[in-house]
Amino acid sequence: MSRGLRALLTLLTGVLLYSCDAPVSYVEPEALVFEEARFHLGDAPEGWMTPDFDDSAWETMAIPQKWQGEGMYAQYRIRFTLPEGFVTTAPYPQIVVFDLSYIDDCDESYLNGVRIGKSGTMPHDGGIPQSAWDAHRLYHVDASLLQEGENLLTLLVWNRRTRGGIYDGPIRIGMARLEDLTTLSCGEDGDGDHCLLSVSCELPVKGVFRFETKGKTRKKSVKLDTSEVFSQEIHYDGGEPVQVKVSFRDSRTGMCVERDFTPKYCLTPPAPKEPRYNGPAVLGARPGSPIIFRLPFSGLRPMTFQANGLPDGLTLDTENGVLRGSVAKAGDYPIRWTAENTAGSGSGALTLKVGSKLALTPPMGWNSWNCWGLDISQGKVFSSADALINSGLADYGYCYVNIDDAWQGAARSADGTLEPNEQFPDIAGLGEWLHERGLRLGIYSSPGELTCGGYLGSLGFEQKDADTWNAWGVDYLKYDLCGYRTILDKLPKAGRKDHIFPYRKMEKCLRKQPRDICYSLCQYGLEKVWQWGADVDANLWRTTGDITDTWASVLRIGFNLQRGLAAYAGPGHWNDPDMLVIGKVGWGEGLRESRLSADEQYSHLSLWALLAAPMIIGCDLAQPDRFTLNLLCNHEVIAVDQDPLGQAADCVWEQDGLQVWTRQLADGSFAAGLFNLSDTEKTLDVRQSLADAGLGAVASCRDLWRQKDAPASFTIPTHGVLFVKYRKNEE
Ligand code: GAL
Repeated sequence: MSRGLRALLTLLTGVLLYSCDAPVSYVEPEALVFEEARFHLGDAPEGWMTPDFDDSAWETMAIPQKWQGEGMYAQYRIRFTLPEGFVTTAPYPQIVVFDLSYIDDCDESYLNGVRIGKSGTMPHDGGIPQSAWDAHRLYHVDASLLQEGENLLTLLVWNRRTRGGIYDGPIRIGMARLEDLTTLSCGEDGDGDHCLLSVSCELPVKGVFRFETKGKTRKKSVKLDTSEVFSQEIHYDGGEPVQVKVSFRDSRTGMCVERDFTPKYCLTPPAPKEPRYNGPAVLGARPGSPIIFRLPFSGLRPMTFQANGLPDGLTLDTENGVLRGSVAKAGDYPIRWTAENTAGSGSGALTLKVGSKLALTPPMGWNSWNCWGLDISQGKVFSSADALINSGLADYGYCYVNIDDAWQGAARSADGTLEPNEQFPDIAGLGEWLHERGLRLGIYSSPGELTCGGYLGSLGFEQKDADTWNAWGVDYLKYDLCGYRTILDKLPKAGRKDHIFPYRKMEKCLRKQPRDICYSLCQYGLEKVWQWGADVDANLWRTTGDITDTWASVLRIGFNLQRGLAAYAGPGHWNDPDMLVIGKVGWGEGLRESRLSADEQYSHLSLWALLAAPMIIGCDLAQPDRFTLNLLCNHEVIAVDQDPLGQAADCVWEQDGLQVWTRQLADGSFAAGLFNLSDTEKTLDVRQSLADAGLGAVASCRDLWRQKDAPASFTIPTHGVLFVKYRKNEE
């Protein structure tokens, strides 16, 4: 399809679907597109940013295309001349947009020698470099920097690991359109029943702000100064999705922008006041290892607890519901719990399986990385640990509190011990605090000399480190390949056995410890780790690179890369598609609300539960919002993830953007996610769709998010899901 035709179609769809329906009186400016540049790998040569620098000896690099160069700088040069009228005929001649696509990892970009943008921090900035690999480089530049004759765009790029460079699309230079300059938003605090609609623009504008919800349209004439914000609060019932259409038309140019929002809505019914057991049906421990288990009961506090069938060696704290002790003899021990509070009583059951396997259900908990990145401290970990209890998450089984990278001191002590840095005054104390409350402590390291964040790894000190962690009460180790890649790169032909080697080494050190340490491999799925992770006694292994809080990332990491892996997951060893990207995340560069829409977040959680994925929360828990808690505390959704059969789902059917993922559950029923990956909502006959997907005749079907029978017909929103548990008709 030609670009012109595409533009016309986009315009027409815009006109038909949205409220920007008056004819437009401008010609959309055509952007300049660059698919190659002069390129140099290595430190920048003197004068490389000047127009008369001779780059004839540089190679021509296609854009997008990655290059190999761990920890290396590279430079790009693009000369260009503007077509006539490029600036003067534009509707907004003040601003030119440089779309430099995505760059792995960091860039500094210049137009005619003047810096126009920078993302990430590079070694020459000082400190630990920070990658910005997932940031779209859209640099808005004062158009007066453009010259009439030849212009020169220069990029200094730094790549952290292996391949780097401009990797997604070509470079585009275009005059700003209203949509580049205007921000339409629907600000929420996560309560799920109101939002603040707003519009702002980088340039002064006058126009009409229009919003529509539930068929009711309202319009306001607004006059905005540069970056001034006009807002309007709207309220709705929080229980089901509400569509909000917002648009702004600039009266001078006639240009119009619009956006559809589905503000957050909470589907999970509130928990009853009476005690309810939300916990797993099985728990694994090795003979003689300390057991720490907090009974996951929701309901009013105070609550008292009783156990029936406790094997010798275990005691239950009847006040806080923490089970501890150890069991010497291997075997299956069925235990029954009862809990009481002022509203009533509740019960639950669990089989303690003392043997060789840990993590009989996927680990649940919190990790510091997706919110704090390298900017982490004991105080921050503590505040999320505390919140795990206060917000009630621990009542749903979230129990691991995992410190990711950046806890390590700068040097080992004389006897080789790696102590924490000054941000972590007392990790052992934190461990004790967690254990007292029935929670567990996790730590991070690398088999290499350095971790990904440039901190000391365990190379050569594996036993020492495992001993130290044991002494601190560590219950979980995330072991991240990172620095070990340098060693693999030096081998003439590194193969699977070379990848296994460092993980086997740590396995031996960990399994010697008198504690049950959950062993989490993080090597991004290299050498098909799912085929050998269980052989190094790993309890989980990352199957992919890092997740981020975009739908594209959830699509790639969840919906694409987990296909065909179900057979490798099972009790004791799980595929790990990385941590949850809901709530407030930010990787240490300032917390922000996850960029996933409400429906995308429901899909994310549903898919992870279907995949029997570890449920490791990645957001700051200190101020949990109602929507995020509603996602994390649905006991029927969790029950699918924690199902004792441990059979992970795979995609069994797909058509027109609809995908069905299904898994069998221990009670003979099935769980299925009907995901709408398309960009339009889809109404379907639920039972018919399950039958079409080859799942046979359905006897009963329960909507897990809403915790009630699924309706006969259901509209799945864009990127949303209907997550059900169903029984097949016996005949
Ligand atoms: C990455 C890893 C992330 C995080 C980070 C720490 O390699 O995939 O999850 O642990 O290193 O530097």
